[in-house]
Amino acid sequence: MNIQRTFAIIKPDAVKKNAVGDILTMIHGAGFRIIGMRMLEISVEQAEGFYAVHAERPFFNSLCEFMSSGPIVALALEKENAIADWRKLMGATNPANAEAGTIRKKHASSIEHNAVHGSDAEDTAKFELSYFFAGYELF
Ligand code: CMP
Repeated sequence: MNIQRTFAIIKPDAVKKNAVGDILTMIHGAGFRIIGMRMLEISVEQAEGFYAVHAERPFFNSLCEFMSSGPIVALALEKENAIADWRKLMGATNPANAEAGTIRKKHASSIEHNAVHGSDAEDTAKFELSYFFAGYELF
């Protein structure tokens, strides 16, 4: 068994439309354990630090403004194969390409306002979990 941890965010667009409960239900329905959860607002600077790998992308400033535009829910998730399975449950980054049954198909409205975030690999999961959670906060 390859029990993994991954990091997820319910983004400001999904929080604003009251989709938090539905997304948490989908997370539990897919067999994830929620081992850390916090609702918070982040500053533009904190968003820039989190998305530093995208600093050269044309959408970087807009993305960081958006991520600091309202409350988000930071989540630490655990299950077998958590990183790939969470990406599958989220669906494609652009909701226009997201499959039926995915969170982005149901709740995202654009490539930027795409409802949820997820780590894309083991090293980014480690960085992203530690950006938002101290080890003692995970259950
Ligand atoms: P996320 O999984 O949080 O990782 C980086 C984010 O950048 C991504 O989801 C999208 O919200 C955003 N993003 C990626 N590509 C684009 C794009 N072409 N235009 C605007 N935003 C984008």
